[in-house]
Amino acid sequence: MFHNILITGGAGFIGSNLALKLQKEYPNSKILILDDFSSANFKNLKGFKGIVYSCDVSTDEVFFKIEDFKPDVIFHLASITDTTVTDQEYMMRRNVDGFKNVLELAYDNESIVVYASSASVYGNVREKVPLKEDREKSPENVYAFSKYIMDNLAQEFAEKTSLKIVGVRYFNVYGPREAHKGKFASMIYQLYLQMKSGQRPRIFKWGEQKRDFVYVKDAVDATILAAKAPRSTVYNVGSGEATSFNDVIKYLNQALGTDFEPEYFDCPYDFYQEYTQADMTKIKEELGFVPRYSIQRGIKEYVDILEGRINE
Ligand SMILES: NC(=O)c1ccc[n+]([C@@H]2O[C@H](COP(=O)([O-])OP(=O)(O)OC[C@H]3O[C@@H](n4cnc5c(N)ncnc54)[C@H](O)[C@@H]3O)[C@@H](O)[C@H]2O)c1
Repeated sequence: MFHNILITGGAGFIGSNLALKLQKEYPNSKILILDDFSSANFKNLKGFKGIVYSCDVSTDEVFFKIEDFKPDVIFHLASITDTTVTDQEYMMRRNVDGFKNVLELAYDNESIVVYASSASVYGNVREKVPLKEDREKSPENVYAFSKYIMDNLAQEFAEKTSLKIVGVRYFNVYGPREAHKGKFASMIYQLYLQMKSGQRPRIFKWGEQKRDFVYVKDAVDATILAAKAPRSTVYNVGSGEATSFNDVIKYLNQALGTDFEPEYFDCPYDFYQEYTQADMTKIKEELGFVPRYSIQRGIKEYVDILEGRINE
């Protein structure tokens, strides 16, 4: 049971889904959100009953913003999520320095920390195998590098303190409350928008690239469970399945009742990840976590929500 829950980045995509789920699961807990609204939408928090402060966690502001709110647990999701940012100083300051502040805050309050890592730390993997947490890392851009350094920082901080610091290494998350991310929203959402507007869905030739897509509700459940982890470590959070872009379009067609053919175009990148798949053994064994949503079910539910056919 958590009394005081702090969520950074709580007005963003995963953070808002997490805040609303925690509110439901722990109705007697207090939830405080810190978010600088750089990539967020207040509308994501419709129905949220707690407090929200605008705050850049990479500044000292974070230490006085929370006043006497002593969090038992901090879910740290605040991060630059625009993976095309090339300003290295900016990315590192916001993501790594921001995390360091959060760790110091946790130390002062003896809080459990769950933070968002990213599958991007694995880099351009060439073999088509499920990725295990301890495989070698090869961050290819400064976003991935910042997440990789956050993992190192978490490990070092946990070793020198008795804090519990748990990383959740998200794969490709999709689902409600991601529209504010624009071109950084999931590919599933982008393809949905194209098909909704009557266009053929555009994907790179020949659509056989595969990704591990995980529905946000599963990502949130895994994140909450991570707070109860037996030790400081990092867990993959994916679906455990790799789905081709062609199949994503097939499932979107099924959910929308359409029959669009993909429009293929040349991939403009020198190297593009052909395949990602999370190895989910560790999180299953240590936390008992098994995703509830197949890709088909996740897409169906998401489209039903987007189309206003069901409420969550
Ligand atoms: N969505 C995915 O597929 C995915 C995959 C891997 C990792 N992640 C990680 O999960 C976390 C949440 O991502 P998301 O998809 O919800 O993206 P998002 O952009 O919707 O959420 C990030 C939130 O952090 C806030 N923020 C950014 N910098 C901040 C700062 N310095 N101080 C306070 N708030 C700040 C933004 O305003 C936003 O609300 C991020 O850490 C991201 O790196 C997401």
